[in-house]
Amino acid sequence: MTQFIDGFGRAHRDLRVSLTDKCNLRCTYCMPSEHMQWLPNEQTLTADELLRIVAVACANGINDVRLTGGEPLIRHDIVEIVERIASLPSAPSVAMTTNGIRLAAHVNELVAAGLSRINISLDTLDAQRFVRLTRRNELHAVIAGIEAAMASGIRPIKLNAVLLRGLNDDEAPLLLNWAIERGLELRFIEEMPLSVGGSWSRSDYITTQDIIESLTPVFELLPLPRDVHSPAFAMQVGGTDATVGFISSISQPFCGGCDRLRLTADGQFRNCLFGSDEWDLRGLLRSGADDQALLGRMMDSVRAKKAGHGTDNLSLLQPSRSMNAIGG
Ligand SMILES: C[S@@+](CC[C@H](N)C(=O)[O-])C[C@H]1O[C@@H](n2cnc3c(N)ncnc32)[C@H](O)[C@@H]1O
Repeated sequence: MTQFIDGFGRAHRDLRVSLTDKCNLRCTYCMPSEHMQWLPNEQTLTADELLRIVAVACANGINDVRLTGGEPLIRHDIVEIVERIASLPSAPSVAMTTNGIRLAAHVNELVAAGLSRINISLDTLDAQRFVRLTRRNELHAVIAGIEAAMASGIRPIKLNAVLLRGLNDDEAPLLLNWAIERGLELRFIEEMPLSVGGSWSRSDYITTQDIIESLTPVFELLPLPRDVHSPAFAMQVGGTDATVGFISSISQPFCGGCDRLRLTADGQFRNCLFGSDEWDLRGLLRSGADDQALLGRMMDSVRAKKAGHGTDNLSLLQPSRSMNAIGG
C-alpha cells in the first residue's frame, strides 16, 4: 500500500530518478550545443544520499524506480546504484532510460546487478540525421548498445523516438519496421516544451495524430485497452505480435492516471515534469534529518500535486529547468 496518495486520489508507485544532468549527446530538443550550466559536483547527490532517499520512498509504496538523466550511464557508480536499489527490502523493479551509447560496455553487469527493464532512445536510423539531431556522431554506438541489450536477455526493451518537423518526421514507418524486425517495442514521444532556450512551438510540433497518419498507409494499427498508469497508449500492429506506443503529453495529456514522482540529480523532489515546484531533500538530508522528516517532505510534495500539468492550456510556461536537469 502506498503512502503517496495525492488530493485527487492518485496513488504514486513510480519514482523517476535523475542521476546526473550531464549527457554525452546534445539533442536539439533537450539542450543547447554549448554554454550549459551544469550542476556543480557538490550539489549532485552521492550514491549514499540517493540510496537514503530511494530507500525511504520504497519503504512507503514506491515499487518502480526508473534511472534517467542526463545520461545515467555517465555515472561511474551506476552498477552499484542499480544493485543497491534492487537489493532494498521491498525489491523494487529497477528500470533505466538511456541513449544507449555506453550500453554495450555495461549492459551485462547492469542486468547481473538487477536492472529489469530498459528504454533506449533512437530518433533516427540515418547517421547524418543523427548528427543533426544530437550534435554527435554516435549512431553506431547506439545501435551496438541496442544489440548488446538484446543479447543480454533483458526484456522488455523499448525504443523511444521523438520526431521533429522537417528533420525525421518521415521516419516513423522505417523506425517501426526496424523495431518489429528485432522484437522491440517502439514508442513515439511528442516533443515537449522542455528544452533550454525553448525552440518548441505549439503550432509546429509533431503530434501523435500526425504519426498515426504517417503509419497507417504502411501498417494496420488496431486499438488496445489503455493502461491508465502508463504514459503511453499502445496499438497492435496488424499481422504481427508487435505493439507501438504513443506518449501524447501535449495533445492528449494523461495526468488523471499519473502515478509518477521525480527526484532530480541535485536532490529536489518533484510531483510533475512540468511546473516549477520542487521540495528540497538534499538540504534536509545534509542537515542530518531522519527518515521521517524526509518522508514528510515527500508527502508535502505529493499533497501539493495539481490535477494536471496544463499542457492543453495555451498559456503554458516552460518549467524552470530543462529535461536533462529534471530527468526525462
Ligand atoms: C531526457 S532523456 C534522459 C535519458 C537518456 N539520456 C536518453 O537519451 O534516453 C529521456 C527521454 O526524454 C526524451 N526527451 C528529451 N527532451 C525531450 C523533449 N523536449 N520532448 C520530448 N521528449 C524529450 C529523450 O528523447 C529521451 O527519450
